[in-house]
Amino acid sequence: MKLFLDTANIDEIKALAASGLIDGVTTNPSLIAKSGRDFLEVIAEICAIIDGPVSAEATASDAPTMLKEGEKLASIAKNVAVKVPLTEAGLLVCKQLSDNGVMVNVTLCFSAAQALLAAKAGAGFISPFVGRLDDIATDGMGLIEEITAIYANYDFPTEILVASVRGVQHVVDAALLGADVATVPPQIITAMFKHPLTDKGIEAFTADWKKSGQSIL
Ligand code: E4P
Repeated sequence: MKLFLDTANIDEIKALAASGLIDGVTTNPSLIAKSGRDFLEVIAEICAIIDGPVSAEATASDAPTMLKEGEKLASIAKNVAVKVPLTEAGLLVCKQLSDNGVMVNVTLCFSAAQALLAAKAGAGFISPFVGRLDDIATDGMGLIEEITAIYANYDFPTEILVASVRGVQHVVDAALLGADVATVPPQIITAMFKHPLTDKGIEAFTADWKKSGQSIL
C-alpha cells in the first residue's frame, strides 16, 4: 500500500521524505490555509521534494472555472494530481482532464455510488473520507470494503485513496482491505513507528550493552 502525507507543511514533508516511506502528498484548501503559504508556490515546492502524485484542489464550483483551475494546477509540475469534488461539475471536469492526460483525484467521496461514478469518469484516485464518516456514526471502513469490491468486479483502474485518516488503526484496516493508498497526517505516520515493547526492548538492550563494556566502533 502506498502512503501519502496529508499536509501542506513543507518542513513536515521534508522530514518524512528522507525516510523514503512517502509515495505522495495530498493537500486541500484547509491545509493550504493552515500553512499560511501561497498555494501555487507551495505545490511547486512539494512537487520538487516528492516524485509521486501531489494533490492540489480546484476550488471553483462551476465546471468551466474548475477546468481552468485544474489546467493551471496541472501546469505546475508533471506529478500534480488535480483534486476535484465529487459533484456533477467535478466529474465533468474529471473526465475532461483525464482525457487530456492529467491525473485526477476525486475528493469528498462518502458513498459507493459516488465512487462508481468517479471511476466511470476516469478518476486516477478516489478519496473516500473514512474519519468524517466515523464522526457521524457511519462505518468509514465499510465504505472502503464496498468500493474495493465494486472496482474489482469491473477491473476499474481507479486507485482507492483512503482519506480523513484519524489513527494508526485506520491505516492498518485500509491495508487489510487492500486499499491502494492511505493519505496520513504526519503525526499518525510518526505514531506508526511506535510500540511500547520496542521502547522497553531498546531500554533493556542499551542497559545490558553498557554493562558489557563493549563498543561497536
Ligand atoms: C484528503 O485528501 C483530505 O485532505 C484529508 O484526508 C481530509 O481529512 P480530514 O477529514 O481530517 O480533514
